[in-house]
Amino acid sequence: MTAKQSLLQDLPADLDRQLLPKHVAVIMDGNGRWAKRQGLPRIMGHRRGVDALKDLLRCCKDWGIPALTAYAFSTENWGRPLEEVDFLMTLFERVLRRELEEMVQENVQIQFVGNLGALPRSLQAEIERSMSETKCNPGTRFTVATNYGGRQEIVQACRAIALQVQQGLLQPDDIDEALFSRHLYTASVGDPDLLIRTSGEMRISNFLLWQLAYSEMYITETLWPDFDRAEFHRALCDYQKRDRRFGKVKNQK
Ligand code: IPE
Ligand code: IPE
Ligand code: MG
Repeated sequence: MTAKQSLLQDLPADLDRQLLPKHVAVIMDGNGRWAKRQGLPRIMGHRRGVDALKDLLRCCKDWGIPALTAYAFSTENWGRPLEEVDFLMTLFERVLRRELEEMVQENVQIQFVGNLGALPRSLQAEIERSMSETKCNPGTRFTVATNYGGRQEIVQACRAIALQVQQGLLQPDDIDEALFSRHLYTASVGDPDLLIRTSGEMRISNFLLWQLAYSEMYITETLWPDFDRAEFHRALCDYQKRDRRFGKVKNQK
């Protein structure tokens, strides 16, 4: 058994390695409701949500899924009560500081996407440190969408392209889907094959509007802090049964 095979040995027997998604995205929803059900303040749900994300990242590594993208904070989440927003910003910073060493050891390459310049300075510093310390790591590509909005991302891409046209570096006819994709935050990681949303909501809440064009969607009633390997296994089994036609006809020659 090669070293790579032994790392993947935990893959459940009913999953086909060849048919695994290469990129999984998650809308981690339901932390507040999870806490409420336990009679706890909402912030406790966010705390437990971090553990669930850590487990999922580890699981992607164990099962050989090369890229994971998680929605941590949306451009709309600033509208929450100040104490909750403050708690989340402090939590992100604390978790990054605590987990960086392990991510380096596990070869994770972490990347943050979103309007990062509007985040608290001390969080920005941790984000920069974590990205630069892991940028050459060959393991799981872990992207965290923080102060991310799909519409905002598209608008910033349009501005960057418009500037290049204004400067004479590009002609309007040069703008195609490939060029546009290169101006998105996700340029290096590409589109997700599978989008998972927890807590049963049937919407994408301004997440990866461009990139989800042909992603398979899996929605579960499970609240994010309860999302575990068994649940991920179910999502992957479901994904493997899908017929991804991309607008074509099945079995087209
Ligand atoms: C998701 O859980 C976490 C973030 C949006 C930061 P919620 O906080 O949205 O939990 P619910 O949807 O209120 O239960
Ligand atoms: C989406 O969850 C954002 C994140 C998970 C970070 P929300 O709880 O903010 O979405 P809505 O309000 O239900 O659409
Ligand atoms: Mg929610």
